[in-house]
Amino acid sequence: MSDVVGYEIAGRVAVLTIDNPPVNALGHAVREGIVAGMERAAADGNADAIVLIGAGRTFPAGADIREFDQPSREPHLMAVIDRLDGIEKPIVAAIHGTALGGGLELTLGCHFRVASPSARVGTPEVNLGIFPGAAGTQRLPRVAGLDHALELIVMGRPIGAATALEYGIVDEIIEGDLRAGAIAFAEKILAAGTPRRISSEPRDGIGAPQEHAATIEKYRDLANSRFRGQDSPHQAIESVIDGLRMPYEDAVMADRVRFEACKNSGQSAALRYAFFAEREAAKIPDIGKDIAPREINTAGVIGAGTMGRGIAISLADSGLPVTIVETGREALDAAMAEIVKLYEAMVARGRIDEATKAERLGRITGAVDYSALSHADLVIEVAFEDMDVKKQIFGALEKVAKPGAVLATNTSYMDIDAIAATTSRPEDIIGLHYFAPANVMRMLEVVRPANCAPDAIATGMALAKRTGKVGVLAGVCHGFVANRSRLPLVREATFLVEEGASPAQVDKVLTDLGMPMGPLAVSDLSGLDVSWRMRQSLADERDPVARYMHLADRMCELGRFGIKAGQGWYGYEDGGRRPQLDPEVEVVAAAVAKLQGITRRDISDDEIGARCLYAAINEGAKILDEGIAARASDIDVMWLYGFAFPRWRGGIMFMADEIGLGKILDQIKAFEGIHGKLWTPSPLLERLVAEGGSFTR
Ligand code: CAA
Repeated sequence: MSDVVGYEIAGRVAVLTIDNPPVNALGHAVREGIVAGMERAAADGNADAIVLIGAGRTFPAGADIREFDQPSREPHLMAVIDRLDGIEKPIVAAIHGTALGGGLELTLGCHFRVASPSARVGTPEVNLGIFPGAAGTQRLPRVAGLDHALELIVMGRPIGAATALEYGIVDEIIEGDLRAGAIAFAEKILAAGTPRRISSEPRDGIGAPQEHAATIEKYRDLANSRFRGQDSPHQAIESVIDGLRMPYEDAVMADRVRFEACKNSGQSAALRYAFFAEREAAKIPDIGKDIAPREINTAGVIGAGTMGRGIAISLADSGLPVTIVETGREALDAAMAEIVKLYEAMVARGRIDEATKAERLGRITGAVDYSALSHADLVIEVAFEDMDVKKQIFGALEKVAKPGAVLATNTSYMDIDAIAATTSRPEDIIGLHYFAPANVMRMLEVVRPANCAPDAIATGMALAKRTGKVGVLAGVCHGFVANRSRLPLVREATFLVEEGASPAQVDKVLTDLGMPMGPLAVSDLSGLDVSWRMRQSLADERDPVARYMHLADRMCELGRFGIKAGQGWYGYEDGGRRPQLDPEVEVVAAAVAKLQGITRRDISDDEIGARCLYAAINEGAKILDEGIAARASDIDVMWLYGFAFPRWRGGIMFMADEIGLGKILDQIKAFEGIHGKLWTPSPLLERLVAEGGSFTR
């Protein structure tokens, strides 16, 4: 008897129940249990049909990803699924929760599939750097047709039960009790004598590739745009094409080789790392499940600039009523009009319908007085980045906010401990650092001041989840984790232009690495004046020995603020957003270099890559060493979601381990010799190299 696959007889139907919490992953014991249960049912004189169902929250959500790094053990999932073809009794898969990856492939081995209305099915394997490796690329096109199969396999996005029914993946939707409904369905099949449907048939191929050239091309294009630089979606397409040109047996053999190559690739290792890193980030080492988040039923936002409006929309979209407070009626009306416009744009793009727009807009109200926030369970301050302004706001807020309300600041770099210290309720104060545009970007940095209560932080993390964001914890320091670790990359990018590289050369090295935009193009987009103001506010603390971003300052003095000014690191013609080479930048860079005594030179792409990336890694190591980030993988999650760092590279800290910490340290020391103090190696990096350790393993 299997511990993880139960066996019961209900009427004339054998019910096999997979019970392997939390997500019934198809680990070795489950695979063995399914085979044993199926053989038993096949031989059981009391069973004429078989139902395969999952216990708990879901049908199997896929292979056990943790087993990927271990030697594979028989029975392989492919063999399990192939075996089902040969069982003479009809097998019905009963799907609830999420039948994903190997889970969906397992249902394809079953002869019929029924699902709960809320069930979702899909093949998200491309997100792990692989593709459906248990014949999904052969069976799904036979069941759902090539276009729908490629949609699932290449894009990796699950579909709901209704769509699965439409695609022919599911035969019936069961309202009410799924187990009872599946048994009734099996009895109906038996009574009608419906022949078993075997999804590996026809065995001799399903049409020549040239007949499907347009569909294949469509998905190649989609793979290029959605998964830039990533190989697995393309391997998935090739695997599907194998099924078009070869008989089933040959195609699955070819799949095997392709699948193993993908599974053993660096991209897959990085993507699997990212999967677990993201889930790990949700766990805060000293805040266990026993610390419940505070209840949030209403929210407030102070300040309705671009960021404040985005935050309000994000809160309203998740179902929370939000009160926005602005300084005056005019500013408030203008902000509300902008919010209406944003929702109208969502309707125009087909993202939401009119009814949803009305419902969400109905959750947002405006006020010009803090007293309107007296009922809010959470208030997020999104005012100007000025310490006096923040202190004044929190002083006023603490007087009206109800006891136990979480009071958050969206500052992106300021000392939240100092803000909290001016209030009488530091236990309620946290940082919630959103990324622009706040209603779109999934990153939420939850910043923990020294004296805040653990349940306030738990509330911040719960809010992230509730609003569909990825919450990652950070400690208080200038720029917290995300911006602090990225700043050195931007700094080096500007130094490299000062030293002789063109903005386009610098940006290209980073886009070649997989980043969607180079750092200088990003600065043009967000505005060079933002960090200029920050540098000015920190002028008193500036280290006179360390190299300074003179060129970036000079660009701002010349009004080269980026896209909004029509000129920045690039030129922008006629109010456009397309960066163009602007020779003036080189003139400015040369003048600044001369003043600083820098001799301009040709700079190699390798140096650009190392300068930008290693500066960020070194800072990441310092952040980790200071305890500002709880784990190296938390830094990586922030880069993935905050800066769209290519997921198939894992993140900067994972990349550092891939490159080798010894090599990085040597290079950092060499840069220190040339460029001075900003390159002082992180003590943690030095320790890890001495001990043969790593950041992420
Ligand atoms: N293998 C191992 N562990 C898994 C897992 C899997 N396939 N899927 C989820 N888990 C673990 C998570 O790591 C997490 O563990 P901890 O609690 O220890 O952190 C736990 O299950 C719960 O997961 P979530 O926190 O993600 O829960 P959720 O409710 O938010 O989401 C889910 C559930 C939609 C199933 C989501 O976990 C998910 O998308 N899982 C991955 C699905 C997937 O990629 N399947 C394909 C696997 S590869 C495959 O199947 C290839 C093949 O054919 C051979």
